[in-house]
Amino acid sequence: MKVTAIAPANIAFIKYWGRKDAKLRIPSNPSISMNLSACITKTTVEFSNDFKQDTVTKGFDEKRIIAHIDRIRDLAKTKMRAKITTNNSFPTSVGVASSASGFAALTVAAAAALGLKLSPKKLSSLARLGSGSACRSIPDGFVKWEGEYAYSLYPHDYWDLRDILVIVESKQKEISSSKGHEAVETSPFFAKRLAMIPKRIKWIEKALGEKNFPAFGKVIEEDCLDMHHVMQTQDPPLIYWNDKTREIMDTVRRWRKEGIPVYFTIDAGANVHLICEGKDERKVIETLGSRYQIIINKPARGAHLI
Ligand code: PMV
Repeated sequence: MKVTAIAPANIAFIKYWGRKDAKLRIPSNPSISMNLSACITKTTVEFSNDFKQDTVTKGFDEKRIIAHIDRIRDLAKTKMRAKITTNNSFPTSVGVASSASGFAALTVAAAAALGLKLSPKKLSSLARLGSGSACRSIPDGFVKWEGEYAYSLYPHDYWDLRDILVIVESKQKEISSSKGHEAVETSPFFAKRLAMIPKRIKWIEKALGEKNFPAFGKVIEEDCLDMHHVMQTQDPPLIYWNDKTREIMDTVRRWRKEGIPVYFTIDAGANVHLICEGKDERKVIETLGSRYQIIINKPARGAHLI
């Protein structure tokens, strides 16, 4: 059967950095994220006894994709080969990680193509084995991941937030996040980070529940800086920021003093996510000017069949 699914990338407000179990990709701490409406992967999976071998669209990580298809084949107890066609709504050259949206779309499409009826929890756990943060791209809207799977805290239309993604770097990262997770214990600040996480989770859940944007923004910036502090003090150090990243971080702080409610967060890369409420989107974009390529994201649904 031939099935197509789409899935969004997601931005973490409380970040996942470090794993309790590397092979199973069980995170050291819970994380909270939002699905991104303009960073979407669309994947078609077709299984057939007529196919002699698996095929994957050129330019994607064939080995990792087929390893994931093998997991799903094992569940369905089949050896049928697959044809996998995938594309991203955002150019791969902008340096936006596509593993979360990619493995979420692949999981949902492949499971359906093999007639597996999996619960949302099971789909999320399965996506996690492909790429950790992919498990957060399965549920709707605002999502929490703890342990084996992620679930929705609030649907996508709960809060009209924006993630204005500012592209300052289009290179692929030199050290993958997988390698980064592995070396997290070498940072003397990792234990301190873990000790702070329960408080931050409580604060962010309260701010989300009350739609208290300044409280929300304060925690997301704090957690982003904390994760990067750990990254930068690992061995080898992971320094993802460049001059433009730092300039935008300074600018955001200045804008807040000038009365524009906007906060930043940054994943394992140099690009900056500007988080604001929908009502302030125009102001933020106009103030930023036309110097950078941007991708405007709203909260989005999770992975689904089309
Ligand atoms: O899913 P991975 O292994 O690419 O790890 C991603 C980790 C961060 O993006 C840096 C943080 C997060 O929670 O998404």
